Amino acid sequence: MSVIYSDYNVGAGLSKALEMTPEQVIETIKESGLRGRGGAGFPTGMKWEFARRAEGDERFIICNADEGEPGTFKDRELLRDMTPVLLEGMAIAAWAVGARRGFIYLRGEYRYLLPVVNGAIEEARRAGRLGSLKDGFEFDVEVTLGAGAYVCGEEMALIESLEGVRSGEYRNRPPYPVEKGFINMPTVVNNVETLIKAAKIMAHGSGWFRQYGTEKSTGTKLISVSGDVAQPGVYEIPFGMTIHELLKMVGGLGAKAVQVGGASGICIPSEEFSTRTIAFEDVPTGGSVIVFGPGRDMMEVLENFMEFFCDESCGYCTPCREGNVVLLETVRKIRSGQATRNDVDLALGLCSTMRLASKCGLGQSVPNPFESIMGHFGDEALARAGERR
Ligand SMILES: Cc1cc2nc3c(=O)[nH]c(=O)nc-3n(C[C@H](O)[C@H](O)[C@H](O)COP(=O)(O)O)c2cc1C
Ligand code: SF4
Repeated sequence: MSVIYSDYNVGAGLSKALEMTPEQVIETIKESGLRGRGGAGFPTGMKWEFARRAEGDERFIICNADEGEPGTFKDRELLRDMTPVLLEGMAIAAWAVGARRGFIYLRGEYRYLLPVVNGAIEEARRAGRLGSLKDGFEFDVEVTLGAGAYVCGEEMALIESLEGVRSGEYRNRPPYPVEKGFINMPTVVNNVETLIKAAKIMAHGSGWFRQYGTEKSTGTKLISVSGDVAQPGVYEIPFGMTIHELLKMVGGLGAKAVQVGGASGICIPSEEFSTRTIAFEDVPTGGSVIVFGPGRDMMEVLENFMEFFCDESCGYCTPCREGNVVLLETVRKIRSGQATRNDVDLALGLCSTMRLASKCGLGQSVPNPFESIMGHFGDEALARAGERR
């Protein structure tokens, strides 16, 4: 069972796509049910169609290779081993939407991958998989390095950063990037894994892809597994796998909890391992699974996540800038034995405000870890604090 690691002749997907009309390419991707692998799960074919139909003199394809979510490292592996297929996915997207230029926005800490990525670009130009691809259709790609801000993985902040505007600041939506993205032109932003999967779908067909996964989450997902497991690493699983099955595969049975979706994802306690599945209709993830063994203090885990969000909030809007600090202080109060039930209830109320009133996905998703870790482990921590008092 493999989509990403299936046998593949580089160039096969692009050749097939170029034999089709852009509309047929979009239809194939829509039929496959492919949804974005960067976390939000937006249908890829629909995104390409919107960009194709939007008004604009130019169009752009951006590969989001920022991979800043704590616990995620699957794109790093893909870039190291499969940049030629990624470039093909970008060229297919370009043919579908009518773009001539593409960018790979590479996480600053992955600078060491630049020779690999630039080497693959040079090779693709020589082999005719970039440059002039068909009469009247040219497409080329360049790489831009991020500068270390987590929020720049968010597509609007990424575009601002790419334009050289003050980095790491979110731009209001709508309009969405497919209408007004890079230099206000229709722009497709897709994750590394999404674009590689698009190339494979073009080569093997939408039915081949749909044989894996569930009805609403077709295909497979790459998962970066870290934490208290015997075999950490990158795994390809079909959507619909239970947390229990995943833990069995990676040598993590006996864990007390699993954080799915990175720091901004949700915490699943052991009682739910057999019933919760990794899929957009249940527990979605951009690719991070962090496993916590029985000895872990979940309040320490939450404190660590909250410190991360305090550091990474761009500070533009009050609910996120101030809210993160209050949530962090609450966790620290619990850990030092000073907190009461009332402190926790106030913090949970603040989570609702943050979800509703934060400007971008960073502030809106902070309540995910806070509510789920507090919901499952908060009472136990408060009781311990009470005993100490
Ligand atoms: C704070 C934040 C950070 C994000 N970081 C990433 C990232 O590192 N890589 C990524 O592909 N998507 C990231 N996203 C999601 C992107 O905004 C966007 O949805 C995605 O790149 C679209 O590609 P896809 O449709 O192929 O998933 C992030 C979103 C938020 C709110
Ligand atoms: S939610 Fe946070 S990261 Fe996003 S714009 Fe507001 S302050 Fe900045």
